[in-house]
Amino acid sequence: MTKEKTPSQPTNTIAMAGDNEYNENSDQQYLAMKACLPLFEGLTFGPNATFVDYGCSQGAASMVVMQKLVSQLPPHSTVTVAFNDLPSNDFNSLIKLLPSIAPADSTKVIYPHIVPNSFYNPVMPNGTVDIAYAMSSIHWLRQMPLPKTASESFKEYLHRRSAENTIAAHKDLIEFLRLRGREVKPGGKLIVAAPSPCADDTDGRISGNEKLRLALFEAIDILMDAGKLPPNSADGIYPPSHVHTEQTFRAAVKETNSEWLVEDVYNQIVPHSAYQTMLESRKQTKDPQALENFEKAYASIVVDWMLAVFKPFMKSWWIGKGLEEGLCEEVFQECSNITKEEFVNSGGSRLPVAQDFVFVKLGRSQRL
Ligand SMILES: C[S@@+](CC[C@H](N)C(=O)[O-])C[C@H]1O[C@@H](n2cnc3c(N)ncnc32)[C@H](O)[C@@H]1O
Repeated sequence: MTKEKTPSQPTNTIAMAGDNEYNENSDQQYLAMKACLPLFEGLTFGPNATFVDYGCSQGAASMVVMQKLVSQLPPHSTVTVAFNDLPSNDFNSLIKLLPSIAPADSTKVIYPHIVPNSFYNPVMPNGTVDIAYAMSSIHWLRQMPLPKTASESFKEYLHRRSAENTIAAHKDLIEFLRLRGREVKPGGKLIVAAPSPCADDTDGRISGNEKLRLALFEAIDILMDAGKLPPNSADGIYPPSHVHTEQTFRAAVKETNSEWLVEDVYNQIVPHSAYQTMLESRKQTKDPQALENFEKAYASIVVDWMLAVFKPFMKSWWIGKGLEEGLCEEVFQECSNITKEEFVNSGGSRLPVAQDFVFVKLGRSQRL
């Protein structure tokens, strides 16, 4: 038997689907940001504050937080607002949203900054940041997980990947906290919304989450069988992300030698709002065709939501496996359409898609 060569683990450089696609399909992350806003209540700052969003993407959620922080500044303040993400991020879409944070009080002056760099590197000068926040971003790992090997079943691969990601996520979170610990001023805050392990039909809550992922892998199988995708097209498309819990946060904070203190933490399930919209629509009619159309509309929204995150990883992997670059968008669209059909056919479109989140507010200790 030939021993499989262990591939190396490259650093992740891939951002979300560009051309504003993430902004248009990130309704659930937007709701997660809203659920996090109570942690920003009552924060006070001096007249020259600095606010930084780590992993801002195209800015739809980020701007709401910045608006809130700017509104809490005293009159005659100047403020640096910095938006950080990977260099491959579509910052142009974010820049177009900057006017939305113009303060109602014209005595406040805003200096926006774009910082294209990994947040696993230093992002801001030491001791300059008053409020750091990271919404749906720090669960993103520094390195790409190893892909599925030829000898592994999909189940074995998912098991291995989860175990490896648990270790990587702990290491990465400590690194993130250490780096932000240098950048945030003593007394400053770091506020985080991070996906947590979600309902997967094994914890008593029935959700459409698993069916959504399975629909995607089914669609890829269909396209591989049809010869439209190269073999192994499903093996390395998982984004490099892992979930966090209150316990994993507390464990990482503990390793920062009292640099950070947990000031507040809560958990919440954040359902995708398209499910509620479908339920409301269904109340209006008994027409079977209309009911079917509502389900299809729901399927379309949640598949587009999932693919706004998966798309760049799928395309990158498929091209690496030999798919011609010129055909990639067409095949991707076909994959998206089949995923929507599969999600409806499997009954997923009658179930809520939801993500558990953990919300954490950390205070930078006064100790230098
Ligand atoms: C799911 S999006 C969340 C975006 C936004 N904060 C929101 O709440 O909608 C995750 C973001 O984290 C960014 N990201 C992932 N790894 C990163 C890294 N190492 N450094 C900076 N940003 C990163 C991704 O590019 C992406 O824009």
